[in-house]
Amino acid sequence: MTTVLVTGASGFIGYNLAAYLNNKGYSVKALVRDPKKVSFHKDIIICVGNLLDLLSLKKALTDTDIVVHCAAVINSPKKQDYAKINITGTQNLIRQAKETNIKKFIHISTCDAHFDPKGLYGGSKLKGEYIVKDSKIPSIILRPNVVYGRGAERGMLKLIKLIKRSIIIPIIGSGRTIIQPVYIDDLSAVIDTVCRRPIQNQTFEIAGPNAITYKELINIITNKTNKKRIKIPIPLAILKPITFIYSRLKTTTWNEQKIVKLAKDRPADISRMVKQLNIKPRSIDEGLSLFINEVFED
Ligand SMILES: NC(=O)c1ccc[n+]([C@@H]2O[C@H](COP(=O)([O-])OP(=O)(O)OC[C@H]3O[C@@H](n4cnc5c(N)ncnc54)[C@H](OP(=O)(O)O)[C@@H]3O)[C@@H](O)[C@H]2O)c1
Repeated sequence: MTTVLVTGASGFIGYNLAAYLNNKGYSVKALVRDPKKVSFHKDIIICVGNLLDLLSLKKALTDTDIVVHCAAVINSPKKQDYAKINITGTQNLIRQAKETNIKKFIHISTCDAHFDPKGLYGGSKLKGEYIVKDSKIPSIILRPNVVYGRGAERGMLKLIKLIKRSIIIPIIGSGRTIIQPVYIDDLSAVIDTVCRRPIQNQTFEIAGPNAITYKELINIITNKTNKKRIKIPIPLAILKPITFIYSRLKTTTWNEQKIVKLAKDRPADISRMVKQLNIKPRSIDEGLSLFINEVFED
């Protein structure tokens, strides 16, 4: 049986992935900082560890075949966290993965490594990719677009909950920025495939089949939930100074960089994912129906 260590297993993607791989028959180890934070299926082995603690990583990696590295900082008011966790943390994990003879390292990067390589987050994730490539451990780098599905108390879930309870929905900027969301189980299916197949040293863009704007996304959700909502545009020129003040007061993880990022289109090319990995991701329509049913069932 193949043993897979999932880092960031208390997070949105890692948690879903650990459950998915466990269902697929892998022996799954979940690296978490705080074991009290989440509860896993009884077959999943919990490894308490931190990317900044080499010894804990070595312990977790011992007798492991494959690592799926999901742990990262995505949203932090502390600028230094991006380099500390996403760069130094990845360096630490790679160092210990070499020592423990890991057979394959699957690195969950982000499309922002391509679209926002100078940003704090995108830049730190891009450097993480270089560390993985330079290590010479057989590796696969995945660059997911926006991932949605059960569990993440932010992004799409926040938007659906907002549409559920609020009559007014803010539209940041023009609302015409393009994203290409992928359903969580489709990302997990990709990871399962790259675990099984003897492919290595490749980078794949991971996204759903539909490139949509934020406005279109809101329309799909309001239509699916039969909610009539008033959309109020908030121009970036207004949002930027407000965010500037709040970020200085350290009362928000938003910052000017993030606002600028919101205005950047992130279309994906999933031809290699579809052809080479034979993954046909769910349409936004199908994925959102599944997701909304889960959210509105609560
Ligand atoms: N969500 C998306 O739409 C999306 C899109 C593209 C790429 N990605 C990438 O996918 C990966 C997972 O994202 P996510 O949405 O699941 O993020 P998340 O929910 O914020 O989870 C991040 C995970 O990293 C862990 N972590 C942070 N610092 C750590 C440290 N020093 N040592 C050990 N673990 C640490 C967190 O542990 P704690 O619970 O202890 O904080 C948490 O489990 C990230 O690499 C991200 O860049 C995500």
